[in-house]
Formats: sequence, C-alpha cells, structure tokens
Amino acid sequence: MEKIIDLEEAKKVINECHDLNELNNLRVTYLGKKSALSLAMAQMGKLKPEERAVYGKSVNDLKNELNNAINAQKAQLELAKLNETLQKETIDISLPGQSFEVGSKGIVAQVIDEICEICIGLGFSIAEGPEVESDHFNFEMMNIPKGHPARDMQDTFYIDETTLLRSHTSPVQAHVMLAAQGKGPIKVICPGKVYRRDEDTTHSHEFHQIEALVVDKGITMADLKGILLTIARKMFGEKREIRLRSSFFPFTEPSVEVDVSCFQCEGKGCNLCKGTGWIELLGAGMVHPNVLKGAGFDPNVYTGYAFGIGVERVAMLRYGIEDMRYLFANNVNIMKQFKKER
Ligand code: DAH
Repeated sequence: MEKIIDLEEAKKVINECHDLNELNNLRVTYLGKKSALSLAMAQMGKLKPEERAVYGKSVNDLKNELNNAINAQKAQLELAKLNETLQKETIDISLPGQSFEVGSKGIVAQVIDEICEICIGLGFSIAEGPEVESDHFNFEMMNIPKGHPARDMQDTFYIDETTLLRSHTSPVQAHVMLAAQGKGPIKVICPGKVYRRDEDTTHSHEFHQIEALVVDKGITMADLKGILLTIARKMFGEKREIRLRSSFFPFTEPSVEVDVSCFQCEGKGCNLCKGTGWIELLGAGMVHPNVLKGAGFDPNVYTGYAFGIGVERVAMLRYGIEDMRYLFANNVNIMKQFKKER
C-alpha cells in the first residue's frame, strides 16, 4: 500500500508552526477536502473488502494522529498567546495614582458659612428673600419713603418703575415678619446678594450681606449688645471688645454703628485700624416701630433688634485684601491661597 503522507514529517511541520492562522492552513492542507488523506479515503471504495478494513484503519489512525498533533499545537499556541496578553495587560498596582485638583469654596462663601454657623449656634435660623425686589419692600417697608435722602446711598438697578435689584438684605426682615403674622418670636439671619450703583476698590455693584432680625416681647438693646459681642469674639478672637456709636438708619431707632477692637494690634493702633484701635464692623439698632407696624407687629407689644454685616468687608479685613474686586476675579492663584482642605 502506497504511503499517503509522511506522518513524521507532517508532525514536524505542525510542531514547528508558531502561528494560529498558519496552523489553520496546515489543518486544511492535511485534513481538508483536497488533502491527500481525503483523496485516499475517496479511493477506498475501489479496494477489495478485505483490503478496505486494514486500509481504512490505517487512514483513520493517520487522521487521528494528525488531528491530535494539530489540536495539541493549537492549544499550546493559544496558551502562549493568552500568557502574552496577560503579561502585556498586567496592572502595576504599585504605581502612584493620578491625583486631580478638587476645587473649594470661594472666600465670600467661606465667610458666609462661618457667620451662619456662629449664628445657628446662637439659636438663629436662616431665612432668604428675593434678589429681584419691589421698591415697596426694599424701601417703603424699611421706613424709607419716596424722596427720603437715605435712598441716595442705596441707589440700585431698576427692572422697571417699581421693581429693582435689592440694595440691602433688610427687606427680608419685612418678608419674615409678614410670614409670622404678627406673632413672635422671630430669630433669623438672612444671608444674600445685594446690588448698588457702586464700583471702586472697596465697593462693588454686587456684594453680600447678612441681615439679622430678632423680634419678641421685651427685647432690648442689651440683647443686641450681648449677641454682637459674642459674634465679634467668635469671628475675631476671644479678646475682642465692641463699641457702639450712635448712628442713623431709617429702619432702626435708636441706630448704632458697631466697632470691634482691632485684632491685628489688639487695640494699640495700626494700619488696619488706621491708628484708632477700632474697626467698623456693622450697622445695627432696635427695629423702628414703623417697620414693626408695617409688617404686622404691634410695636406696643413687641420690640426687636436688627443688624446687617457686609460680608466682603469682613473677608477683606480678615485676610488683608485691599481690593474687593479680587474677591470676584476668579483668579485661581488668589483662590488657591484661601483653599480649605476638605
Ligand atoms: N441695611 C443697611 C445697609 O445696607 C445695613 C443695616 C444697618 C442693617 C442697620 C440693619 C441695621 O439691620 O439695623 O447699609
């Protein structure tokens, strides 16, 4: 019987094949329809029956041998390929991670948070009012009628004849009192954005205030003084003192300007306090009876105090910032200096 193929030679070729595609070609060559083996099988019908059994077995053996050899080589190549991929895709868990910078709150927001937290600790709750406000709330309800000279200092931006961007947070007082329907107690702070027709190094057309309002039976100036001293010390240090100077605001009577002893020179006099030992901090006073009455509270039964802090002013004092516009410049180099780690 004629030798179909050289098995040893074929095995050698298979074992030396190191490419899966080529191996597949070899499978076609050795076992495909046009292979010597397939042709031999096709010829089998021509053999005598007694020859056919022997021949058939040897062809089958050959086929199995080739098949096994190819499969074994295929398994080996696939394993090698897998190992290579695993090797390539190994993750080095000892590499340092890529860090990215996380932003933080701006200076103004930080100061608002700080003052709010102090006041919440003192029993205040937070109230908010609209930035687009009516002339009525911004001025009239605050005892500043049309033509009042105090309007001049708070010239603002008008949406129309009677609607404006609020020039202070004081009108939130009126909203809160109206909502309380003549019944105390009220103890709120109102942080928010306000607008004025101002712009220089220490004034901006857009800035922030925190208003405070306390209304109850029997509230006196002593309550105001006590709370202001507590807040001043929490903000600027336990050694601070406060000083009340007589002043005027249409919505308070009496009105005071509140100074805090200088935290930089401890009151001796320095550039920050301009040699006086005192720094002007905020305006305050006892809520004017007209304001109480206008917002539905009986001034014969209830009294109250109010104060208003300029947030940017506090931030500038605290950090020695000379130009208010830096606070809004969105300059990353400036903001980074005030970044608080979380
Ligand atoms: N609304 C005043 C302003 O913007 C600040 C102020 C002063 C608020 C005295 C008050 C106050 O509540 O009692 O200039």
